[in-house]
Amino acid sequence: MSTVRFDPARGLRGTVEPPPDKSMSHRAALIGGMSEGETQISNYLDAADTNSTLAAVAALGADVARDGTSVVVRGVGPRGTVVPDADIDVGNAGTLMRLLPGWLAAQDGRAFTLDGDASIRRRPVDRIATPLRLMGARIDATDGRLPPFTIHGTALRATTYEMPMASAQVKSCVLLAGLLADGGPTTVVEPQRSRDHTERMLAAVGATVRRDGLRVSVEGVESLSATAIRVPADISSAAFLIVAAVLVAGSDLTLRAVNVNWTRTGLLSILDRMGAVVEGEREADPGDAVPAVDPVSDLRIVAGPLQATTVEADEVPLAIDELPLVALLGVFAEGETVVRGAQELRVKESDRIATVVDGLTALGAQIEATDDGFVVTGTGSLRGGTIASHGDHRLAMLGAVAGLASREGVTVEGMDAAAVSYPTFERDIATLIAR
Ligand code: S3P
Repeated sequence: MSTVRFDPARGLRGTVEPPPDKSMSHRAALIGGMSEGETQISNYLDAADTNSTLAAVAALGADVARDGTSVVVRGVGPRGTVVPDADIDVGNAGTLMRLLPGWLAAQDGRAFTLDGDASIRRRPVDRIATPLRLMGARIDATDGRLPPFTIHGTALRATTYEMPMASAQVKSCVLLAGLLADGGPTTVVEPQRSRDHTERMLAAVGATVRRDGLRVSVEGVESLSATAIRVPADISSAAFLIVAAVLVAGSDLTLRAVNVNWTRTGLLSILDRMGAVVEGEREADPGDAVPAVDPVSDLRIVAGPLQATTVEADEVPLAIDELPLVALLGVFAEGETVVRGAQELRVKESDRIATVVDGLTALGAQIEATDDGFVVTGTGSLRGGTIASHGDHRLAMLGAVAGLASREGVTVEGMDAAAVSYPTFERDIATLIAR
């Protein structure tokens, strides 16, 4: 476990391209594995989570060749997986753990066991087991709801599933299973819109995907046609740099080729309301159309005095991984910043309501946890101190940004957790503050 100190910065200046999108990299590898022929992925994220996905796809029989950030996956087709010699190790990757079973549940006559690290073993899989069982799947989980868990592949039937929570992972799992189910279409009804990379990528490989408001359906397929996929930069990784530039006076930061899919840009809307300007294109909600690609834009951050804001349930999925940063922004804003309807934060890589509130409190923030979010009282500055990452990559990077914006600096215990999504984070920060 590495301990790293982040001193108060005098500005982040320059241009960087943040790392490739994690959500899209996972999906590109999985959908490549399910396709026939060669899926050429450019700008694949080289990080712990997405490396777990490549290893899983290879263990299932796909041919995976990698040259830096270029990856070629020669898939086994939708129903052609082999049974791996060992359990599939998802590492720390919740997205892999929750998407892959959608594919595996339909591998008739074959059984697969998924396991991961200590954090993964605390994260529920009943949320995917419930809809998959409605489709006929057989899944045995530890204590009925936790990894390790075993999927016994069988013939699936199409269903309509009303999700009790907004989760792109659960939605994606059901859609992948729906591709392989008889009697389609399979329909998922979301309580709120969540990231739609799976829908877009499935449209790109020839699946029939239809959206009608909060309902999204797929038809069953015999095959998927491999295609080329370019992964843009991850706005959830970019978010740490964006917020650092907003909070550290004297910053002038430009981020290149960032994914500005509207289902991911909630933080930018929140920043608009708070008074910070982020210049660049943003996708408008395309309504019921399912675009086959994700839009990209350069973003330039222009700081300003911050006002408090309230984030309600509808906006939560559009900024789910950025809500820890909203807590930090709230410290520097005038008034009370409130996040509600975000109980999903409790089942992330850590219980992010508890770890964010405890972590920022230790740094001098006035922040209270609620059942489904938090309330921050703006104090205009942050003292600093020590924060533990709890093995959660986004907590580690939150601590680092807090340090850059603090009066006395922040020591992050467990900074190495950042490697899960943003292995070059410390290097990028060092480059930007040295200028
Ligand atoms: C993700 C969806 C979100 C997000 C996670 C990645 C995805 O999780 O928090 O980091 O790639 O689908 P939920 O779907 O559980 O909200």
